[in-house]
Amino acid sequence: MNLSEIFAPIVDDMHAVDAVIRARLNSEVVLIRTIGDYIVGAGGKRMRPAMVLLVANALGYQGDRHHLLAAVVEFIHTATLLHDDVVDESDLRRGRGTANAVFGNAASVLVGDYLYSRSFEMMVETDSMATMAVLSSATTIIAEGEVLQLLNVHDPDVSLDRYLQVVRYKTAKLFEAAAQVGAIISGASPELEQAAATYGRHIGTAFQLVDDVLDYSGDAQALGKNVGDDLREGKPTLPLIRVLEIGTPAQQALIRSAIETGSADFEAVARAIQDTEALTYTRDAARVEAALALQALEAFSDSTHQQTLVKFCSFAVDRDR
Ligand code: IPE
Ligand code: IPE
Ligand code: MG
Ligand code: MG
Repeated sequence: MNLSEIFAPIVDDMHAVDAVIRARLNSEVVLIRTIGDYIVGAGGKRMRPAMVLLVANALGYQGDRHHLLAAVVEFIHTATLLHDDVVDESDLRRGRGTANAVFGNAASVLVGDYLYSRSFEMMVETDSMATMAVLSSATTIIAEGEVLQLLNVHDPDVSLDRYLQVVRYKTAKLFEAAAQVGAIISGASPELEQAAATYGRHIGTAFQLVDDVLDYSGDAQALGKNVGDDLREGKPTLPLIRVLEIGTPAQQALIRSAIETGSADFEAVARAIQDTEALTYTRDAARVEAALALQALEAFSDSTHQQTLVKFCSFAVDRDR
């Protein structure tokens, strides 16, 4: 199932969110508009804003503040991408040169900061202390996740737990916050709010586990970003951690040195990953997370939007883009 089919029930809401995003990029500083339009105009799947809308709709929300909140979440996401591509020295994103490749690191970092600040300004307009608390602490945790990941780079002794903490912080937290604020503005009970948060956390974890699979097996054209970046950066992600766990001594030595140097032979590493079925293992771990997300959804009553949230679980696991 492709994303446009999944998004069909919220197509009007998504257009409304897009209009908010475009309007709020409108700084008087031309370079901000240029870079903002550049990265936003390249698209992106818009998974996180969709999550805000779907949870709010599934819980019977009637107003229009969910459009603003969904735009806030996408701005936070876009800011992390601008910063992440500088840190990761990536040069392809959403099928285009990254902002850092085209406009330079300094401009990317500063426009990322602008998007963060803008998102806080917009959060205040929602006039909800509870949503501000969730979103502001999410941005802190994302930053902690990126710093923790920096500490893990080139370290072949990173454990599964340390890896999973990075995944929960840098990626799952924003999915969790998106689902949770969707519940908060709907006036959901504390139990439903927690169910939404749990759903978001598990689906976000599945999403990043699959991102780490696609970095070894994906198609750059479909993904709109380069494959092999994680290996070049010496990032100890689950596919490599798995080879270190069950590979032959030779395979383990290859992976240790790949992580330490970041300059291994991609084909040799890909073979070790293939021989140990490490990508299947990682995708299976994502499937377990998606099943937990599905379980959390049982607290929601049946509706078209709840059904769409169910479809999101399969998409997070089976996606190739
Ligand atoms: C990329 O997120 C960063 C990760 C958490 C893996 P997406 O894959 O959602 O990026 P876009 O917004 O669709 O480009
Ligand atoms: C992305 O992690 C997480 C955030 C942007 C916070 P990655 O570095 O794995 O994402 P990609 O692969 O560059 O999209
Ligand atoms: Mg990256
Ligand atoms: Mg990645």
